[in-house]
Amino acid sequence: MDFQWYPGHMTKAKRMMQENMKLIDIMIELVDARIPLSSRNPDIDQLAANKSRLILLNKTDMADERVTAQWEEYFKEKGFYVARTNARSGKGVKGTQAIVMDACKEKLERDRKRGIKNRPIRAMIAGIPNVGKSTFINSLVGKACTKTGNKPGVTKQKQWIRLANNIELLDTPGVLWPKLGSDEVSLNLAYTGTIKSEVIDETEVAYNLTKFLLENYRENVTERYKLNQEDVEEMLANDELEENEKVVEVMNYIGRVRGAVQRGNTIDLDKTARIILTDFRSGNLGRITLEIAK
Ligand code: G4P
Repeated sequence: MDFQWYPGHMTKAKRMMQENMKLIDIMIELVDARIPLSSRNPDIDQLAANKSRLILLNKTDMADERVTAQWEEYFKEKGFYVARTNARSGKGVKGTQAIVMDACKEKLERDRKRGIKNRPIRAMIAGIPNVGKSTFINSLVGKACTKTGNKPGVTKQKQWIRLANNIELLDTPGVLWPKLGSDEVSLNLAYTGTIKSEVIDETEVAYNLTKFLLENYRENVTERYKLNQEDVEEMLANDELEENEKVVEVMNYIGRVRGAVQRGNTIDLDKTARIILTDFRSGNLGRITLEIAK
C-alpha cells in the first residue's frame, strides 16, 4: 500500500515540537481509541523522554467500551497516565486537568521543597492528524480561556492558554505523522478516514473492513443492514467460494438491500463500499474497535 506524507511538513512539525519540548512538563498525547497503536507515532516516546506522560484515548464514543478498558490497562502498565475522552461531546475532557496535576505531582513537590510557589504546569497536546486535537483544546478551553502573552509589545510567538489549577497549555498542538509500517496500520488509518480516500482504493479498504467486521462484529453488520442472519451464515460457510468471494457475496447482499444497483441489475460494488465506509466512519455500524490490546 503506497501512501506519501509531505516530508517538508513533517520536518517542520517535528522541529517545532522539539523546540517546545524544553518548555513543557507534561505531554498530553491523543490517540484514536478505535486504533490506539496505529494512531500513535512511537517517535513521541523519544521526543518526550523525561516528561510526564498522559495518553488520552479519544473518540471513545465510537470505540468498543470493553476493549477501551483493556487499552486503558495496557497503557497504564507501560507507565502512562490514561484518560478516556469524547472531545466532540466534552465527556471526560475537563477531568483531564486533575489527571495532569496528579501526573506532575513530583514536579510540584520539588518546587515546593525549593520554595517555588505557583509555577504553572505547562502542557503540550500532540497526536496524528484528525485524532481530535483541536476539538479537544476547544472543548477544554471553552469560553473561559485567557491567553497569556497576548498583550501588545509581547512577542506573539508562543501562546499559552491558562486553564484551571494553574495549568498552561501551548495553544498549538504538536502534529505527528502516523508510521505506515504495515498494511494493517495503513488499513486501520484508512478505515477511520485518517488517510484520505483519493490516495487509497476505497473498495479495497471496504472489502477489508467488511472482512474484519464479519469476523469480529458480525451482528453490527446484520443489524445495520437488516440482513437475514441465516443467509449471511450460509454465504460465509459456502465451500464452493474462496474466502474473499464469501466477503464479496455479503457485500453484494448489502448493496442489494441498500439499492446500490447499476444497469443490468448488477450490484454496484464501489457504491456499496462507500456506503459501508461512510456508515463505519459516522458510527452507524456501532461502537467498534479495530485493534486488540495484546
Ligand atoms: P485534529 O486537530 O487532531 O486534526 O482533529 P480535529 O479536532 O480537527 O478532529 C477531527 C474530526 O474528529 C472532527 O470531525 C472532530 O469533530 C472529530 N472528533 C474529535 N474528537 C472526537 C470524539 O471524541 N468523538 C467523535 N465522534 N468525533 C471526534 P469532522 O467530521 O472532521 O469535523 P466536524 O464535522 O466535527 O466539524
